[in-house]
Amino acid sequence: MRHLRPGLEPYRSIVADIEALNDALNASRPPTVHVNTARIGPPSLIERFQSDGWRAEPLGWMPSGIRLPKVGSPGRHWAYRAGLYQGQEEASMMPVALLQPQPGERVLDLCAAPGNKTAQIALAVGPTGTTVANDRDAHRLGVVRDTALRLGLDRIVSVVHDGATFPLPAGAFDRVLVDAPCTSEGSSKVSRDPDRVVDPGYRRWVMGQQKALLRRAIDLCRPGGRVVYSTCTFCPDENEGVVAAVLNDVGDRARLADVRLPGLRTSPGLTGTTGLSSGGRPLAPELARSVRLWPHIAGTGGFFAAAIDVLGEPPGQMPERHRHRAFRDEDHGALRAAYQDIFGLPDAAFDGRVLVAKGEAIVMVARDLQAPSHPVPATYGLPLARARGTAPKMTTAAAMALAPFASGNVIDLTADQRDAFHARRTIELDNGQMPKSRKSRMVILRYEGFGLGVGFLARDGAPLVESQFPRIWSSHKARRNSGTHS
Ligand SMILES: C[S@@+](CC[C@H](N)C(=O)[O-])C[C@H]1O[C@@H](n2cnc3c(N)ncnc32)[C@H](O)[C@@H]1O
Repeated sequence: MRHLRPGLEPYRSIVADIEALNDALNASRPPTVHVNTARIGPPSLIERFQSDGWRAEPLGWMPSGIRLPKVGSPGRHWAYRAGLYQGQEEASMMPVALLQPQPGERVLDLCAAPGNKTAQIALAVGPTGTTVANDRDAHRLGVVRDTALRLGLDRIVSVVHDGATFPLPAGAFDRVLVDAPCTSEGSSKVSRDPDRVVDPGYRRWVMGQQKALLRRAIDLCRPGGRVVYSTCTFCPDENEGVVAAVLNDVGDRARLADVRLPGLRTSPGLTGTTGLSSGGRPLAPELARSVRLWPHIAGTGGFFAAAIDVLGEPPGQMPERHRHRAFRDEDHGALRAAYQDIFGLPDAAFDGRVLVAKGEAIVMVARDLQAPSHPVPATYGLPLARARGTAPKMTTAAAMALAPFASGNVIDLTADQRDAFHARRTIELDNGQMPKSRKSRMVILRYEGFGLGVGFLARDGAPLVESQFPRIWSSHKARRNSGTHS
């Protein structure tokens, strides 16, 4: 007889084929990635994977999702380092698909780290939208920042606060995602430990957190907006139970939306008496509108999500007190002009962006980005240069973002040179690759038109480029961030 994970025992009453669920959790799934559609279209990225021998295919239900063969290690591919995609489990793409952020909207990701869904949101709201990425854990938020820089997303503001008491006025956001802390019974990380059993005390504690976070999210969302609550766990107490309790508290201010995602094998949320739900109260029939991904049915990790519409007439315009501070261009024209001159960057390269100072750094920020004044933003935008001066070293994130516009001091690398750059080795150039007129030793490096980062030409004029690719993106951290969990 097969060994049933002890953590699955309680679910016999709600899962028809518990052995199949057990097998699905033990099986490995092919990695999936979410495409940085601001840089490349999914079909072009699929072509690039295929030309490297990876049989990549689109996720049928999610236009910006790609499935890779099991041998593919997404964090090791050059296109990952060039910020063309983010490693993300297929199931974890579902909550933002249900949230449906629209261009120009202001969206709060209340529990954002490590930030895969934040990136998905920022791509959906586009250059005129704002994504506020909040997490209670400042250290984990650092990973969100790293992702934003690699993907070139200058429309994310990160803040550190307890989401349950997030201090902005009610109705301050068009949409709010609560990808809540949970017991993670369906996640790939947990699948690797078949003997894990959830501590009941932790479960009770986290349920309190989940309810408080969802309640606050509903308050923060404007009438006519949407909140999505999601977890990567199976327990109805943390899923339908939390949604039922909070909807009961908020009365007719919000209701479950009836949402489906064609092509994804979702199952309805649980209803009635599960024998597991909190307080023994039956779950109301409308909870079937929430969505479950069971690994043995969907072929994905385990996930739960509920889309909740906040009722009422949308305000014509956000009331003044709900508006956040927009960034105003400061006078960093000399720095911009120096870079435009060195790299032949047209004005269009800076369209829709303003330059502001943040500590010693000069940061490029989307012109329409709006930041709350409290909590004080920890990070925003893309640093253009980390130091002041006439033409200090441009950052890798800025070089990657501006590379497609560059016409001077820019070098198009071969595949071998690209790999040397990413490995931080000195690159030997062919004769024709040296920039014609050199205005600086600093060069932007590209591969097939995609920005890779910054390098320095040799002082003595030899055809060599010293790689400035960040050490931290070159090695372990690249792989850590590319993990497909969450
Ligand atoms: C499931 S993870 C979020 C995953 C993330 N949304 C993603 O897609 O990459 C839950 C996060 O909630 C954060 N968290 C836990 N309690 C919180 C609270 N009260 N307020 C804000 N964040 C909290 C944790 O630090 C953790 O980063």
